[in-house]
Amino acid sequence: MDKQFAHKPVMTAEVLEALKPQSGGRYADGTVGGGGHAAAILAASSPNGWLSGCDRDGVAVEAARRRLAEFAGRFEIRQGNFADLAEWVPAESCDGLILDLGVSSHELNDPERGFSFQRDGPLDMRMDRRQALRAASLVNEASAEELAGIFWHFGGERESRKFARAIVHAREQKQFETTRQLAELIERISPRHGRKTHPATKVFQGLRIAVNDELGSLKQGLEAALRILKRGGRLAVLSFHSVEDRIVKEFGRERARDYTFDDVDVPELRKPRVPEVKLITRKALKPSEAEMAENIRSRSAQLRVFEKS
Ligand SMILES: C[S@@+](CC[C@H](N)C(=O)[O-])C[C@H]1O[C@@H](n2cnc3c(N)ncnc32)[C@H](O)[C@@H]1O
Repeated sequence: MDKQFAHKPVMTAEVLEALKPQSGGRYADGTVGGGGHAAAILAASSPNGWLSGCDRDGVAVEAARRRLAEFAGRFEIRQGNFADLAEWVPAESCDGLILDLGVSSHELNDPERGFSFQRDGPLDMRMDRRQALRAASLVNEASAEELAGIFWHFGGERESRKFARAIVHAREQKQFETTRQLAELIERISPRHGRKTHPATKVFQGLRIAVNDELGSLKQGLEAALRILKRGGRLAVLSFHSVEDRIVKEFGRERARDYTFDDVDVPELRKPRVPEVKLITRKALKPSEAEMAENIRSRSAQLRVFEKS
């Protein structure tokens, strides 16, 4: 593993089982990160499988290029959002695509990136540092209603309103600049009392999703997947919390139906159609006990696999 870019890929064996990389096949990785899954796909599709990869994070793109050097001539990695994959990966060209959602351990552990309430750093949270919007702008400028909406919808935080009001009150005295400032405020209002998870976990998750418009990207990315996959090509999506998994599950359920309807789904008004995907996993797959014991980050992972019809 790249010493400067520590990230252990999750459920690699299950991802390979889903995508079944073959020599001569063409694959895409929309979240190339440190290149763990990408390396496994390139190795399994030796000697001449091809991989198109992207990541919003420039540091990840550099790390992935270093990690994949042994496969030179068999991949192209660009910095960008997987929502835009269909703009540069040819239509109906891919046999398989992996989306491994969220942030990498590298992003999370680098205090300068501002993703973690456990490490003090600037309130940033941008995956793509070319982007203007940072977490600090939201925390210091959004209304209490907007902040509560972010914590509730994207973080699933039950005390969203209370936290939002406290933030708006506190920033009248002093603007928020650091992750510690925010984490300490939340901890003061909602003390830990022996709870395992830090009280700011959901607030940080909500802000991260909002700053990076992660749910908007995910919806567009799933559409892009259907455009770039060949018929019979497979999409594997790894999600790490219920907010994103719900979108992936709904997408699959909706696209696998053999009918459409206008407003309400009543059997006599259904219009038949050819399903766009086949569900390969009816229920999300979880990592093995052994992997969960060895890699804490994998514990919340859920893998869903679809095949383009
Ligand atoms: C969990 S890590 C991926 C790790 C990778 N599979 C590996 O094996 O090293 C998620 C990565 O996806 C990137 N990312 C998240 N959302 C993205 C998006 N919409 N478009 C492109 N990259 C994204 C993050 O910057 C991060 O590097």
